[in-house]
Amino acid sequence: MELMGRGFRQIMQESPLYFQILLKFAGYKLFNRRSPLYGSADIINVCNLHCDHCYWWLNRKENEELTVEQWKKIIDEKFKKQHVFIVTLVGGEPMMRPEVVELFVKEFPKRACVVTNGTYPIPNLKDIYFYWISIDGTEKIHNNIRGDGTWAKTRKNVIDYVEKNGEKAWKDIWITMTINSRNYMTVKQVIEEWYDYSNKIGFQFHTPFMKGDPLWLPFGEKRSKVVDDIITMQENGYKDYIINPKSQLEIMKKSWGGKGTTPIDCPTWAILSVDHMGREKSPCCIGSAENNSMKPRCEECGLGCYSVLIGYGMKG
Ligand SMILES: C[S@@+](CC[C@H](N)C(=O)[O-])C[C@H]1O[C@@H](n2cnc3c(N)ncnc32)[C@H](O)[C@@H]1O
Ligand code: SF4
Ligand code: SF4
Repeated sequence: MELMGRGFRQIMQESPLYFQILLKFAGYKLFNRRSPLYGSADIINVCNLHCDHCYWWLNRKENEELTVEQWKKIIDEKFKKQHVFIVTLVGGEPMMRPEVVELFVKEFPKRACVVTNGTYPIPNLKDIYFYWISIDGTEKIHNNIRGDGTWAKTRKNVIDYVEKNGEKAWKDIWITMTINSRNYMTVKQVIEEWYDYSNKIGFQFHTPFMKGDPLWLPFGEKRSKVVDDIITMQENGYKDYIINPKSQLEIMKKSWGGKGTTPIDCPTWAILSVDHMGREKSPCCIGSAENNSMKPRCEECGLGCYSVLIGYGMKG
């Protein structure tokens, strides 16, 4: 038996946590009580790439990093205090702070995942939940978005990890693709290219910060066809590989989050997101802790982590 990459023994060990989650869910459904289920932390204020589509660079300011001790305090005072179930580490590039990754994995065994560009060798951490590896197309298009040579580096690091860490290592590799107007035509090939080296693939759509962003794939025929093609592949051999539920994929064909830059239906409360200083970000994990920051356009949002919750009946 396996559920979302979790075996029977692990599920039994975690049963008190599931009880907490169940209580939270019941509290929301019965009393509209909102308490975060998940966490996300930008554990670093540096990145080795400057990808064309990246929201993180838009609001980045030069300042200090937190020490491992300071992160431990954030873990206790924010994430543990609010009983979040899974924490996702982002950045910047989180693999450039391996000591902070190790701390989170130690504090949240099998409940911390890392989103990485995969250009650094991937360490085999016993208690990691999994690595999200960002892939934005076939080699040429991925490189066009992320920089020359990035695809080959990431490919090598993923294959090395899978081949050198035992027969179950592929289970730790999950692929995430952010679909935009430059790469939408490569979805099928990306699925085929990464299938042998990964456990799951998840899709989301580019979320713009300005009206008329050319990377945003507009609602309409082209976008709906991309979604329908993913659903078709899911129904034809990739059922256990493509992780997005059909309800979520259908939602991502149209506007679902809010109006302009204001979230309305989006369940922003469900994910407690902190920046590299441990400050809470708003309105969501791609937002900022600072008031005068650039804002994501909720009206055109394609983020996977919130739309999946809408698919499960949660709202703002
Ligand atoms: C900001 S990156 C940080 C982690 C790591 N550096 C990486 O690239 O995987 C986290 C994820 O956000 C995605 N992303 C960046 N800009 C985005 C945008 N405007 N809309 C949606 N997703 C975006 C990236 O493709 C990546 O998968
Ligand atoms: S590697 Fe990640 S954080 Fe860095 S620019 Fe690319 S998407 Fe942004
Ligand atoms: S995830 Fe962020 S950008 Fe998207 S609708 Fe929610 S608040 Fe807006």
